[in-house]
Amino acid sequence: MAKRIWKYYQLINETFVKDGDAFAGRKSIGNYNLNVRGGDYGIILVDSDLWKEHRRFALHVFKDFGMGRGLMEEKILCEFDNMLESIEYHLNSQKQASINIASVFEIAVSNIINQMLFGFSYHGEEKKKEFSRYKDVIARHMQMGTWPSALMGLLFFNTVRYLPYFNKKIDMVLDDFKFLTDYCKKQIEKHRFEMKQNGYDKENPAKDYVEAYLRESEKNAAFTDVQLINSLFDLWIAGQETTANTLIFSILYLLHNPEIQTKLHKELDAVIGSDRRINLSDKNSLIYVNAFINEVQRSVNLLPQNLLHRTLKDVKVGKYFIKKGTTIIPQISNVLYNENIFPEPQNFKPERFIDENGQLKKVNELVPFSIGKRQCLGESLARMELFLIISNFYNHFNVSPIDANNLPTLDKTPGITVQPKSFECNIFKRF
Ligand code: HEM
Repeated sequence: MAKRIWKYYQLINETFVKDGDAFAGRKSIGNYNLNVRGGDYGIILVDSDLWKEHRRFALHVFKDFGMGRGLMEEKILCEFDNMLESIEYHLNSQKQASINIASVFEIAVSNIINQMLFGFSYHGEEKKKEFSRYKDVIARHMQMGTWPSALMGLLFFNTVRYLPYFNKKIDMVLDDFKFLTDYCKKQIEKHRFEMKQNGYDKENPAKDYVEAYLRESEKNAAFTDVQLINSLFDLWIAGQETTANTLIFSILYLLHNPEIQTKLHKELDAVIGSDRRINLSDKNSLIYVNAFINEVQRSVNLLPQNLLHRTLKDVKVGKYFIKKGTTIIPQISNVLYNENIFPEPQNFKPERFIDENGQLKKVNELVPFSIGKRQCLGESLARMELFLIISNFYNHFNVSPIDANNLPTLDKTPGITVQPKSFECNIFKRF
C-alpha cells in the first residue's frame, strides 16, 4: 500500500503536469456557479477560454506590481513594519506581552492583497474593526465549503432551497457571497468614478488590479463587470486565508517544539546578527529558516482536499480509462503526508529539508501549491510573504506558551483551507 502511494507523486506529476491541459478543467459543487455567482465567472471555478485569459491577465498584472522583485518586497516589508509597531504597542516594560497574535498576522496579510487589488490598506482602529468583519465572513465561507449541509444544499439547490434547515445554510452561503462581493463592487465604483474624474496616466502601469482591469475593459469585451467582481472575490479570499493561516500555524508549531525556535534564532543571530530588515537577498543564506517554512507548509497541508478538477478529454491515468468530464483531484495530501517521502510525517522536523552538507534540499514532492495548469496563481506572492514575514518576525521575537502544561491545540478547523483554533501566547522582543 505504502509503495503504491509513493508512486502516487510520479503519477500526479505525469498526469497533471505532462498532460496538463486535459486535467485543467474545474468542477464546482452542484450549480454553485449559477446559483451563487450568477454564472461561470471568476478564476478559481471556471475552465473556459475566460479562465485562460483571466489567469494570464492576473499573473501579468501581479508581475507588473513587482512580484518576485523589489517593489513587492518593499510593500511586504512595509506591512511588516506596521505589524511590528502594533505588537510593540502591547509590550510591557520587560518587552513582553500575552496576546492573540493571529489577528496581527491576519491584518498584515490582508493589507498586502488589499493594496494589490484595491490600492489601500487597513490602518487605524475603525478600519481594523471593518476588516475584522470581512475576515470573519471569509473564514466562515471557507469552512462552509466542507459542511455537509451546505454541500447538500448546493448539490440539490432547487429541491432543498425551501426546506427548513437547508434553506438557512443556503442563505448563509448566498448572504456571505453578497456581503463580500458588495465590498468588491464598492471598490470598482470608486475606481471608475476616480478614473472618470481625474483620467489616468496611460504611460505608467495601473496602481492596482481594479484599475488595470478597468483599463483593459475599454479594449476587450471579455473584461466585464460581473467577471471582475467574481475575479476580485477569488483573488481576495485566496490571498488572505491561505498565507495568514500558514503564518499562524508557524507559531503553534514553535510553541509545541521550542527547540526548533532555538535553532531558528541561532541561525538568525549568526547570519543577520541585528534587528535590521531581512530581505530577499538574505534568503539563500538562511537555510534553517527555509527548511522551517517548508516544514510548516508540509505540516499545515492547507488545502487538504485540494480543489476539484475535471477532465477535459478522455484520458488514461495509469491503467484506468477516465471519461471526459469526470471529477478528479490531485491529492497533494497523500504526498505531503506520505511516510516513504517524509518519514514520520506527523512529526514536525525542518531537518528533513537539509542535506548532509547542511544545504537546503530540493524536494519536488513538497507540493502545497498543487501541480499542473491549475497550480496556485498566488504562489510567488505567498512565497515572498512567508519568507519575509517569518524571517523578520522570529528575528525580532521569541514566542512561548502561556501555560507550558496546557499548550494551544494543533487541531485544525476543517474547511477548504484549514484554520487554526484561536489562542494566545507570550511574545518577547529580542532586541
Ligand atoms: C500559503 C499560501 C497558499 C497556498 C498553500 C495555496 C495553495 C493553493 C492550492 C492548493 C490551489 C489549488 C490548485 C489546484 O486546483 O490544483 C490554489 C489555487 C489558487 N490560489 Fe493559492 N495558495 C496560497 C496562496 C495564494 C495567494 C496569496 C493567492 C493570491 C492571489 C492565491 C490565489 C490562488 C488562485 C486564484 C487559485 C486558483 C487558480 C486557478 O484555478 O487557476 N493563493 N492555491
